[in-house]
Formats: sequence, structure tokens, C-alpha cells
Amino acid sequence: MPHIVTKSKKAVTDTLLKCAENIVLIGFMGAGKSTVGRELAKRTGRFFLDADALIESAAGREVASIFKQEGEEAFRALEKESARWMAECVRGSVISTGGGMPTVVKRLKDIGIVVYLKLPFRKIVERIDAKERASRPLFADMNRAEELFEKRERIYEEQAQITVDADGPVERILEDILKALGSLR
Ligand code: S3P
Repeated sequence: MPHIVTKSKKAVTDTLLKCAENIVLIGFMGAGKSTVGRELAKRTGRFFLDADALIESAAGREVASIFKQEGEEAFRALEKESARWMAECVRGSVISTGGGMPTVVKRLKDIGIVVYLKLPFRKIVERIDAKERASRPLFADMNRAEELFEKRERIYEEQAQITVDADGPVERILEDILKALGSLR
């Protein structure tokens, strides 16, 4: 009896390829990237990686404190560095990006399949409570946040390989993403 029995080489290769590919979620703050990302990871047999959490653990500080102490530019530099590392080294993950990452990392598809969670600004405002706002420096001023949203929509559309309507139950959003991923292959 051999140590390893492989029924179908192709099936194994397909599975490896499928799991190795990252899925990169983009969208504005509050679009549900982390919630959807965690569930999508479970459903597709991947790990979940939050790009903000990655930066926080490397820097030993929270995002809000990096913004406060070193400024937005320093944070964007850390985002770029984390994106380079993810493109080189991360496989088999669902990655939730910070809302500004697509503005500074030009080719997110080098990391994985890019999925845009699209939601109108008024829906985003409904979801972001005072506590959440405090942890997001760019949400401190509502008018500025709306301007930012308008500027970014085009960038999200350009980077996205799949766009889903993120206004609705997580289960429906997941189904839409899984369907779209299936039709990409
Ligand atoms: C930012 C979004 C935040 C975080 C930082 C900046 C942005 O992430 O990266 O506060 O520029 O939109 P979330 O989108 O996860 O809130």
C-alpha cells in the first residue's frame, strides 16, 4: 500500500490552485469587508486576513494612533508595504483591505481576485456608529468622508474584477460573490 493515494491528479491540482488564490475585498469604510470576509473565508476554505490588523500588529499600534502620531502619509506607506508583502507571500486567504488601500496600491489584482462591496454613502452612514467613527480618523468629519467616498467610487470600480451590491444580508452577498467567482473560472 503506497503512502499516498491520489485518485485524480487534476482534482488535486485544481483544489490547490483554487485555495491558493487570494480573494481581496475592497470598498469604503463600513461596507462590511471584515464581516463578509470572515464568512467568505469559511465558505471557500481560506484563511481570513485583515490588512489593517496586519499593519497594527507590525507597527505595534492602532491605525488611529498611527494617523495621529505620524500622519496619513506614514500610514499609506505602511499600506503599500503590506500590499507588497501580501502579493509576494500570502496565499490561500480572503483579505479585507482598508478603504483607502485601492487609492495607493495600483494593482490589487497582483494580490488576488478583487471583489468590490458596493454600498451607497447613506447606507454606510447608517452602519457607522459613534464608536466606529472614533476608530476611523477619516470619518471624523462627515462632509469630508462623503467627498472622499465620491472620489473613491471610480477607483474602486476600476480595480474591481467583481462588483457586488453590499446592501443586504451577508448570506445573499456571499452567494453573489461565490456565483461570480464560479463564472470567472
Ligand atoms: C481608511 C479605512 C480604514 C483604515 C484607515 C483609513 C480609509 O479601514 O484603513 O482608517 O482611508 O478609508 P476600514 O475600511 O476597514 O474602515
